[in-house]
Amino acid sequence: MKKLLTIVLMTLVPSLLLAGELDRMKPDVHDKASLQRGAALFTNYCLGCHSAEYARYKLVAEDLGIPEDLFEENLIFTGARIGELMQIAMPKEPAESWFGVAPPDLTLNARVRGPDWLYSYLRGFYKDDTRPLGVNNVVFSNVGMPHALVNEGGLCAEEPNIGGRPSVDPMSGEVVGGTACDNWAIEGSMSPEEFDRAMYDLTNFMVYLGEPALLDRKRIGTYVLIFLGVFLIFAWLLNREYWKDIH
Ligand code: HEC
Repeated sequence: MKKLLTIVLMTLVPSLLLAGELDRMKPDVHDKASLQRGAALFTNYCLGCHSAEYARYKLVAEDLGIPEDLFEENLIFTGARIGELMQIAMPKEPAESWFGVAPPDLTLNARVRGPDWLYSYLRGFYKDDTRPLGVNNVVFSNVGMPHALVNEGGLCAEEPNIGGRPSVDPMSGEVVGGTACDNWAIEGSMSPEEFDRAMYDLTNFMVYLGEPALLDRKRIGTYVLIFLGVFLIFAWLLNREYWKDIH
């Protein structure tokens, strides 16, 4: 019992402590347009360094409703074929010496870290000249990753206010509460609101990537409930039949 309590406390306390420091995002894996935009960002900007080697391009194309030829032409940059796993060309060892650590596989990252963390991380880069790459991150201090989306999102001159104001309203999809950075060292080609929205899509895609079954699970769940509903009628009729002569 004591052991159980310790385990519960150990899992709950850090997540409670961390909870206040992240921006919230509510994934919606049924928003295909958002997943498609996220997939485009992911294949363009992330697959250069990170693999997603438990995922297959073909399944992603199918799930997101992107025709295979379009997907192959526009979203595969590694020379891979549509049936292959989402691996990368970058070898591990030199990557390690470039960045200090090899970029980890991202297939399951959204499940390990959680969507709030990921969404905050992607928007948490800021200028820090004491770091080798000139950037740091508020939710991952001394991160070894460069700010891959600096041209789009810009670079905050100071620690952005993550966990404070902005979040994406799950109902309307609008960014509410302003943006996290007041003072930019580099302006991005997107407005801060556009960038937040894009990072919502990217996170949403990575949530899907970590658990593609989410798409089917709910659909199958609906069928199961319908089946149970129909079954109930027959069970009730049968029950009535059995008891008919006894009353
Ligand atoms: C230039 C190479 C490079 C690119 C491009 C890049 N990353 Fe990274 N990324 C890294 C490296 C290196 C690390 C490891 C950082 C560390 O552990 O200090 C990392 C770490 C991460 C982590 C943290 C993993 C964890 O849980 O510890 C996430 C999440 C991530 N990257 C997401 C992305 C996404 C999303 C993109 C595309 C927008 C992207 N990265 C583009 C090099 C890259």
